Amino acid sequence: VNLEQPCAARMYDYYLGGAHNFAIDREAAERAIAAMPATIAGARTNRTFLRRAVRFLIGAGIRQFVDLGSGIPTAGNVHEVAQEIDPSARVAYVDIDTIALMHGETVLAEAPHTRFVQADLRDVDAVLHAVAAGGLIDLSKPVALLMVAVLHFVPDSGEVHAIMARYRDTLAPGSYLAVSHMSLTGQPIEFLEKFRAVYDKTANPVALRSRDEIATLFGDFELVEPGLVTLPLWRPAGFTYFAGDPSRFPGYAAVARKPA
Ligand SMILES: C[S@@+](CC[C@H](N)C(=O)[O-])C[C@H]1O[C@@H](n2cnc3c(N)ncnc32)[C@H](O)[C@@H]1O
Repeated sequence: VNLEQPCAARMYDYYLGGAHNFAIDREAAERAIAAMPATIAGARTNRTFLRRAVRFLIGAGIRQFVDLGSGIPTAGNVHEVAQEIDPSARVAYVDIDTIALMHGETVLAEAPHTRFVQADLRDVDAVLHAVAAGGLIDLSKPVALLMVAVLHFVPDSGEVHAIMARYRDTLAPGSYLAVSHMSLTGQPIEFLEKFRAVYDKTANPVALRSRDEIATLFGDFELVEPGLVTLPLWRPAGFTYFAGDPSRFPGYAAVARKPA
């Protein structure tokens, strides 16, 4: 565990009120909050999008989930949401972060049909091999690949598009992608620049892509209603943490299905 540099997983844990972070992470997190006061509401809004997406996917018949960049486990993890509806749902968590792995293994010790893998999502072959090991995830059948608040940590756009093409090609027809991504579209540029500058000094620099570029991450997958929208507008379910105009939220999300 690198305690010399803040990292995104532990800063996000701090935004969500978790205890798996260190002083260096909390200091950087406070700088991010000062740069963009909506950071905490944004993180919590993102987490509620994840839960709504999982419930939607279960409703669509999906029983296998691969949660890439899953983070340090917190309230409402994917297996908890999915298995509450169908206890046979299978979930593979993948994160690059060591604390996420350590805490993940503890949380999952008693959870059937789950696994935590420490891997870099950019290493597509390693990720697919690890989640399929032992038959946990059957890649010949439909899977939901969740990439929630993680692709902005792949700053090289050429790389992110190449990775997405690999994942899209590998998934069986009828699979889904669920993505949320921070965005600069519609935002006052100066506060996002300050926010990005905070993350530039962490282990996880961010890329704040435009809505149009985020739209291309889905390739030929078909977006389900309501399409690519700001997070609070994706199938809202009453309560929202984000106090501002929901159409001005600094990030976009969508769920999309691979055609047969
Ligand atoms: C903002 S958190 C999001 C956590 C969770 N997906 C959620 O939305 O609640 C981003 C996570 O992505 C992880 N991450 C960043 N780059 C990654 C990479 N290349 N491969 C795997 N995980 C990565 C970080 O360690 C962190 O835990």
